[in-house]
Amino acid sequence: MKYSFDDLKGRNCVITGGFGVLGLALTKGLASAGVNIAVISRKAGSDPRAAEIAKEFGVKCIGISASTLDKEALEAACREVNAKLGRIDILINCAGGNSPKATCPAEQMAADTPLSESFYGLDIAGFKDVFDLNFQGTILATMVFTREMASDGKGGSVLNISSMNSYRPLTKIPAYSAAKGAINNFTQWYSVHVAQLGIRCNAIAPGFFLTDQNRFLLTDESTGELKPRGKKIIANTPVHRFGEPDDLVGTMLYLLSDISGFVTGVTIPVDGGYSAFGGV
Ligand SMILES: NC(=O)c1ccc[n+]([C@@H]2O[C@H](COP(=O)([O-])OP(=O)(O)OC[C@H]3O[C@@H](n4cnc5c(N)ncnc54)[C@H](OP(=O)(O)O)[C@@H]3O)[C@@H](O)[C@H]2O)c1
Repeated sequence: MKYSFDDLKGRNCVITGGFGVLGLALTKGLASAGVNIAVISRKAGSDPRAAEIAKEFGVKCIGISASTLDKEALEAACREVNAKLGRIDILINCAGGNSPKATCPAEQMAADTPLSESFYGLDIAGFKDVFDLNFQGTILATMVFTREMASDGKGGSVLNISSMNSYRPLTKIPAYSAAKGAINNFTQWYSVHVAQLGIRCNAIAPGFFLTDQNRFLLTDESTGELKPRGKKIIANTPVHRFGEPDDLVGTMLYLLSDISGFVTGVTIPVDGGYSAFGGV
């Protein structure tokens, strides 16, 4: 028996958020393995990178504009993917992120912490937006893009993008942490629900990658120097660096390929050892 990821060649994948910082590395990693790709995001339809990736890797790559929070828009996107690529074999739920509107300035409360800087000052609308983007966006996209997989008997693979926050919540970002915890739970739940249909569902929990969504939390905007929170992360990451987006590609290909055919319902950390380290 020859082991490789060649079985992925020619398969069709929908990836939400596939032009984001981490998403783009996944999209290019899929293309390098010969996978045809439809990237779904609010602005993906006008993104020139779809054509660039198609040309560079010799695969089909299209961008379709739709929000993962809008079921009708996702259904229209699904019809477009079917018309342009064919059957959807793989879904990657990557759209997500945190927002300053769901972040409290204080890590821990002290007696003199102003309530406005704590959990008690959080804007519930901001909290709900972050929770919905990460969790509901994953649920809705799964409901829409895996419907054919669930009914034609040919199976498929779903990959959710979780986070380190899902295992133990980080300070300051309760909505994001809760949503990613819910994604791990849903990954297990859905993997059981569809296991007998030949559909596998797994997740990757990236550790710390310096990207636009967390740059304001980890670095000083004017100097680019690490803030105390950024320094704390590096000190608690045994390999002593932030992740590079390409660090996620190998684990993604493994989980999507038939090579991991007996693996379902797991969330794999890709975190430079962060989740293994007790801090001492
Ligand atoms: N960066 C990290 O260190 C880190 C760590 C752990 C986990 N993660 C997770 O990894 C995933 C990707 O993160 P990233 O750093 O690549 O984020 P990013 O650069 O902010 O990309 C997120 C993408 O999601 C799309 N998006 C946002 N809202 C959307 C919506 N309502 N509907 C459809 N698409 C939407 C955006 O495109 P449009 O603007 O075109 O909609 C954007 O391209 C996220 O789930 C994030 O939570 C990131």
